[in-house]
Amino acid sequence: MAAGRHEVTVNGTARSLAGTDPATSALDFLRAQGLTGAKEGCAEGECGACAVLVLRPDGVGRGGAGADGGTDGSDGTAGADLGRSRWTGVNACLVPAAALDGQEVLTAEGLGTPDALHPVQHELAVRGGSQCGYCTPGFVCAMAAEYYRGDRHPHAVPDREHGPNGFDLHALSGNLCRCTGYRPIRDAAFALGAPEAGDPLASRATHPPPAAPPSRLEGASGAFERATDLSRLLTLLREHPDAVLVAGATDWGVEVNLRGARARLAVGIDRVHELRALHVGHDAVEIGASLTLSEVGRALAGRVPLLDQLLPQFASPLIRNGATLGGNLATASPVGDAAPALLALEADVVLACAGGERTVPLSGYFTGYRRTVRRPDEVIRAVRIPLPLSGVTAFHKVAKRRFDDISSVAAGIALDVRDGVVAKARIGLGGVAATPVRALATEAALEGRPWTAEVVRAAAQVMGREGTPIDDHRASAAYRSAMLGTALLRLHAEADPSLAPAVAP
Ligand SMILES: Cc1cc2nc3c(=O)[nH]c(=O)nc-3n(C[C@H](O)[C@H](O)[C@H](O)COP(=O)(O)OP(=O)(O)OC[C@H]3O[C@@H](n4cnc5c(N)ncnc54)[C@H](O)[C@@H]3O)c2cc1C
Ligand code: FES
Ligand code: FES
Repeated sequence: MAAGRHEVTVNGTARSLAGTDPATSALDFLRAQGLTGAKEGCAEGECGACAVLVLRPDGVGRGGAGADGGTDGSDGTAGADLGRSRWTGVNACLVPAAALDGQEVLTAEGLGTPDALHPVQHELAVRGGSQCGYCTPGFVCAMAAEYYRGDRHPHAVPDREHGPNGFDLHALSGNLCRCTGYRPIRDAAFALGAPEAGDPLASRATHPPPAAPPSRLEGASGAFERATDLSRLLTLLREHPDAVLVAGATDWGVEVNLRGARARLAVGIDRVHELRALHVGHDAVEIGASLTLSEVGRALAGRVPLLDQLLPQFASPLIRNGATLGGNLATASPVGDAAPALLALEADVVLACAGGERTVPLSGYFTGYRRTVRRPDEVIRAVRIPLPLSGVTAFHKVAKRRFDDISSVAAGIALDVRDGVVAKARIGLGGVAATPVRALATEAALEGRPWTAEVVRAAAQVMGREGTPIDDHRASAAYRSAMLGTALLRLHAEADPSLAPAVAP
């Protein structure tokens, strides 16, 4: 296999990866190069001090031939202009440097200099958006990603979270500042104009991102190999069933940094083109396991409302720019957010190995605490959501913080309400058992009954008794139970009144 270029283009200059251990994070790699703007605050994706920009494809493919596939959107295949790219903010503390082989990276140093500040740096400086400065390069990069977002347009009705310039403050929800306070930072964000004609970074995004050919980097801790097609990936898995797959590294990076995990062989799967396709067919939506959550949200563009409700509540944009559905389901965390939503959507998991593929209903995928039916030689290729979708959906997540926090409990709810009667109810829960579970008793308490406050109140009580929640540092068992029932009551209170029975039976 090709060894790759073993270099990363950082701020326009090629930097060699030679001698870099596969377990080294992009942050440590950059800082070792003297680019010390990006900082380590937490080493676990929580603070954004390490944020940098990576040039990524702007759109997703339909699979099949060619890196990142082709796309035309004509048969419902979701996609965008694959000839363009997007400056994408990521947490450099989590991404392995080896995963950036051949890629283009920008740090705060590459955006501007003290004598020629980038507009983002200028606004932060003149509006008092920086005091000690520790968080500032990370804010600069996250803000620059939003500054260059191609579909950022002046907002007709600015609100607390959207500036008149179309700046979406959620872009900064993965960045923490401990001393300045956020108002001056928001002022800086809302004061930004559009990139000027000829801005080199805006111009760069009008061209495709760099190719991501197969590559392999070896070092003292083991090897990191980037697979780019399913066949090579499955061969590697067959030969090395103990290999660790690395997609966005938002879980794996934490294991490496905080728990000292090392892989004899780590296989980068974020650019395997068969895992990066999104297809909307007549009877199902199939989402490639290696698409990032940000890509999934953009490509679906509202086609699966329950996922639209989930995605903004999942971590931060910096994390969503790496995190994948495949990684979320593979870790099988009982508090993972994708599973409750996907259980409500009656999704299937498509597992591939060298011998072929099998499709497993998500409801039968989890077998115990962080255990699943997936064999070591299998990869999650895709998640399949059957169509048509239920008409009434909600995703309720209870966490200590509104953004960028792990759930205490989560509920995905999908109901078909016809002529005022609940014809079908599917509810997935997280945080109430060793695995994500279906709320079968609650579903039975709703199905065939009128969609009235009385029925919903009774079903909410049943829902509060689902699973066996435990007390831990996130929440007490009693609180978890109480929050479950509330999710259903809230959905009923907020649902379209026309769903109610014309005459309450
Ligand atoms: C700050 C922070 C906030 C977070 N917030 C949330 C949150 O709000 N909700 C939530 O649910 N999670 C959250 N997470 C956890 C994490 O982001 C998700 O679990 C994410 O979906 C993991 O995807 P990934 O691609 O980064 O996985 P990786 O880290 O790349 O991989 C994780 C594991 O899955 C395996 N794997 C990856 N892809 C596949 C595949 N296709 N087939 C088989 N195995 C595979 C890998 O081998 C590895 O063992 C958070 C994490 C951080 C650091
Ligand atoms: S160092 Fe805190 S997110 Fe990376
Ligand atoms: S300026 Fe000090 S932490 Fe943000």
